Amino acid sequence: MNADPRVMEHFSGVLSREESDALAARIDEHFAEHMFGLWAVEIPGVAPFAGFIGLSVPGFQARFTPCVEIGWRLAAEHWGRGYATEGAHAALAFGFDTLGLDEIVSFTTAGNLPSRRVMKRLGMRHDPADDFDHPALPDGHPLRRHVLYRIRRAI
Ligand SMILES: CC(C)(COP(=O)(O)OP(=O)(O)OC[C@H]1O[C@@H](n2cnc3c(N)ncnc32)[C@H](O)[C@@H]1OP(=O)(O)O)[C@@H](O)C(=O)NCCC(=O)NCCS
Repeated sequence: MNADPRVMEHFSGVLSREESDALAARIDEHFAEHMFGLWAVEIPGVAPFAGFIGLSVPGFQARFTPCVEIGWRLAAEHWGRGYATEGAHAALAFGFDTLGLDEIVSFTTAGNLPSRRVMKRLGMRHDPADDFDHPALPDGHPLRRHVLYRIRRAI
C-alpha cells in the first residue's frame, strides 16, 4: 500500500520497505503512549489487511494543536466501496463516546478530494480560515497547503 504511487499521490512520495515498517512501528508506539491509534482495517471475507483508519495525535505544532486527528489510508483496490467512511464513523464514535473527546480534526492537502469527501460525509466542517501550511514541507512545495476539517461531539 505505502509503495503504491496512487495511494501516495498526496504525500511527498512512496515509502520503501524500511520506511513503511518504521511507520508501522510509530503506529504501535502511539498505541502504547496514548492507548488509541490507527487501527488496521480488516474486511471480513475480502482482505485481512486493507489499510488503516483511526485516531492519532499529530507530532507537529500548529494553530489547532494539541488535537486528535482522524485519518485513513486504504489500498487502492478497496477504494470506492464506502469502507473509509464506515471505519471513520467507528473511529469518531470511539473518540467521542469512549475517549470523551470534545473535538476531532482531520487535515489533508487541498487537492486530496477523495479524502475531503470522506470528511464531508462524516459531517466535518471546513473553515477556510483554518487552512495552513504543513510545517514538515518546505516553502513552495506543491503539497504544502492543507485544509482542516473539524467535528465536535454532539451534546
Ligand atoms: C482517502 C481514501 C481512504 C478515500 O477512499 P474512498 O474509497 O474514496 O472512500 P470510501 O471508502 O468512504 O468510499 C466512498 C466512495 O465509495 C462509493 N461507494 C460505492 N459503494 C458504496 C457503498 N456500498 N457504501 C458507501 N459508499 C459506496 C461512494 O459513492 C464514494 O464515492 P465518491 O467519493 O466518488 O462519491 C482513499 O482515497 C485513500 O486511501 N487515499 C490514499 C491515502 C490518503 O490520501 N489518505 C488521506 C490522507 S489525509
